Amino acid sequence: MADWELLLTDASIATMCAGSVPYGTVENAALAIADGRIAWLGPQSTIPAGKAQVTRSMAGRWLTPALIDCHTHLAFAGNRAAEFEKRLAGASYEDIAREGGGIMSTVRATRAACEDSLLQQTCRRLRALRRDGVATVEIKSGYGLDLETELKLLRVARAASRATGIPVSATFLGAHAIPAEYRGKSNDYIELVCSEMLPAVAENHLADAVDAYCETIAFSSSQVARVFETASSLGLPVKLHADQLSDSGGAELAASFSALSADHLEYTSLAGVRALAGAGTVAVLLPGAFLTLRETRQPPIQSLRDHAVSIAIATDCNPGTSPICSLRTSMSLATSLFRLTPEECLAGVTRNAAAALGLSADRGTLEIGKRADIAVWDIDHPNELSYWMGLNELSGLLVGGKELPN
Ligand code: NIG
Ligand code: FE
Repeated sequence: MADWELLLTDASIATMCAGSVPYGTVENAALAIADGRIAWLGPQSTIPAGKAQVTRSMAGRWLTPALIDCHTHLAFAGNRAAEFEKRLAGASYEDIAREGGGIMSTVRATRAACEDSLLQQTCRRLRALRRDGVATVEIKSGYGLDLETELKLLRVARAASRATGIPVSATFLGAHAIPAEYRGKSNDYIELVCSEMLPAVAENHLADAVDAYCETIAFSSSQVARVFETASSLGLPVKLHADQLSDSGGAELAASFSALSADHLEYTSLAGVRALAGAGTVAVLLPGAFLTLRETRQPPIQSLRDHAVSIAIATDCNPGTSPICSLRTSMSLATSLFRLTPEECLAGVTRNAAAALGLSADRGTLEIGKRADIAVWDIDHPNELSYWMGLNELSGLLVGGKELPN
């Protein structure tokens, strides 16, 4: 006989399980939670006999998997609003990076910031995401670029999760940019990343994955390969900022290491798409960066669909290319800028975002056995989640079956 902690009744459920039913919808549904997991869900008329300690009517609201932001750079100090103004006046992102601005100006501010102030700033951004129904967030390091500050950022990512209750996946992005003290010596910096930073990160269990930036203004394919070989030898999965500003073969490189995801992809070729499909690597699209950089080249969306590559959407929240702390806004941008369907967008921040973090076994769909990470929405249909911008229809957010505090 069932023994449930919580039974949610009178709901419409978008399970987001893949299949022929749009959104994996179950109407007039109920969902039961035991031990923080989904113990049962289905049409309300078929609830098995059992007892629930608490029963709550959802009064027709929609339940979806809690949203997942699978690509962010939330841990940093300062901002780059002045640089944003320069770009509006005509300077390019690459020009600013070459002049020592861009990522390097955030690195200077982040190195100078104390751990507590970084934690406060990171928590503020996490809480902004939470208001959009986000209950798993990936946070990258990458604004330290020295051992001490990279470890500091990863500790902040872990601490921000404890402080807010929001589950965080931490990613080591030491190979984000060449720090000023290594200018002209990028191989030496990669050596530092591989021989000192990565072992320290792994030993202290500070990261769940390793990322790198493969681009003409950052690191070459062979340098990234060295980072990925080291990560793999330490048992850490990899992901890649790939083909954002040029086709550097990033998608192929990510696929050759069975990366969890390849992200950005505006300049990815057909061969790159085929490689992603072959490796089961998730394509993470970042419409906020596309918008902010006024990019005109679209990621190869139709080709990704044709090759059945899973597509995720994320904010890429960062002070340079995507000052966006709203995953719902990113979903809406993905419809308008990339013509993704609202269903593709919702899958992109639930099922496919979970896959991009290697968390599919536990999160990303509403299914019996998965953790009860659930968003409750005051909407008539889940297509509204990619339609409105700035209207907060969230009426509840559960993590492991418990309401996540504000
Ligand atoms: O995802 N592409 C590199 N990294 C970030 C930008 C970071 C920055 O400009 O501070 C991105 O777009
Ligand atoms: Fe990024």
